[in-house]
Amino acid sequence: MQTKRLSSHDIAAASEILHRGGLLGIPTETVYGLGANGLNSEAVSHIFQAKGRPQDNPLILHVPCADWLERYCTDIPDTAYLLANRFWPGPLTMILRRKPVVPDAVTAGLDTVGMRCPAHPVCRAIIAAADVPVAAPSGNTSGRPSPTNAADMLEDMDGKIDGIVDGGPCSVGVESTIIDLTEQPPRLLRPGGITLEQLRDVLGEVAVDPAVTRLMGKDEHPRAPGMKYRHYAPKAPVTVVKGAPAAAAEYIRAHLAPGDGVICFDEYAPLFAGYPLEQLGPSTDVPEQARRVFEALRWFDGTEATHIWAQCPDTTGIGLAVANRLNKAAGFHIIDIE
Ligand code: TXA
Ligand code: MG
Repeated sequence: MQTKRLSSHDIAAASEILHRGGLLGIPTETVYGLGANGLNSEAVSHIFQAKGRPQDNPLILHVPCADWLERYCTDIPDTAYLLANRFWPGPLTMILRRKPVVPDAVTAGLDTVGMRCPAHPVCRAIIAAADVPVAAPSGNTSGRPSPTNAADMLEDMDGKIDGIVDGGPCSVGVESTIIDLTEQPPRLLRPGGITLEQLRDVLGEVAVDPAVTRLMGKDEHPRAPGMKYRHYAPKAPVTVVKGAPAAAAEYIRAHLAPGDGVICFDEYAPLFAGYPLEQLGPSTDVPEQARRVFEALRWFDGTEATHIWAQCPDTTGIGLAVANRLNKAAGFHIIDIE
């Protein structure tokens, strides 16, 4: 299949791909998504094939506004509208009870569905033109780091999808925050662009699913099925070094062996001259680290590095999401030097 390169002006062509049941790469403010008409089961099943995604991992529906929640969800708590007022359009996905109209192919048979209203103007234009909910996981091959620009998505999906719309680099860089509103207190299933602090500000108590901060055992089932899979991982194994930035950089320098690569904050790059190196941004600029983390992980697959050391921000604000992605890439192989 030839994958059409579309620009942000080709909204009609993009919407046409969705209408005829095709697969479309879409820019969002978080990461690029692999979209299909969320009401067309067959189109949705092709998403799983293109990604090599396990069938038990449900998809998020992308909608134009909170008014669409009632079309696809039931028993919607007031908190859903409070959150939508505050954070939509934006990087927040809410898990709600679904209505039967949502295909099983989207929810992997669960009685809930993830709903998100994205903020990227090009994504919004595509959804508005198509006038359907767009089912879309991240646009990577299953297990690889999520794509944060069109070229990264094409690396995985060229020839497997009908088209991709280039909307430039993603402004958030990590996927949406997922909050499960079907239980009390609401539960954070995946940290992302909207922080835990922001959620607590609106909801009060918020539980954090254990899959956010540690490896799940074989017999444990995280609420977001996707959180149980090895994820975001480059081919080389990753070790995360947790602790104050200067001390962590020094620890890595002291343990670095030939063939190793490093992901570090900008200030410490001179310590690693001559080694394969990706800089995450300044240690104090966590939003920049979020924008760069997936690209940094992806870059190592084009190098000879056999092991990757990574510095990691602390877990306040969007740091919780950056740390979660790095820790998952490392299979939670973390050295805590504090
Ligand atoms: O930012 C994002 O959310 C991006 C962009 C494209 O919107 N999408 C994305 O989708 O990250 P995906 O499929 O890569 O990750 C969705 C996660 C998976 O871990 C999945 O298991 C979980 O959401 N999920 C989806 N529906 C769910 C449900 N009904 N209950 C629990 N978890 C759900
Ligand atoms: Mg994904």
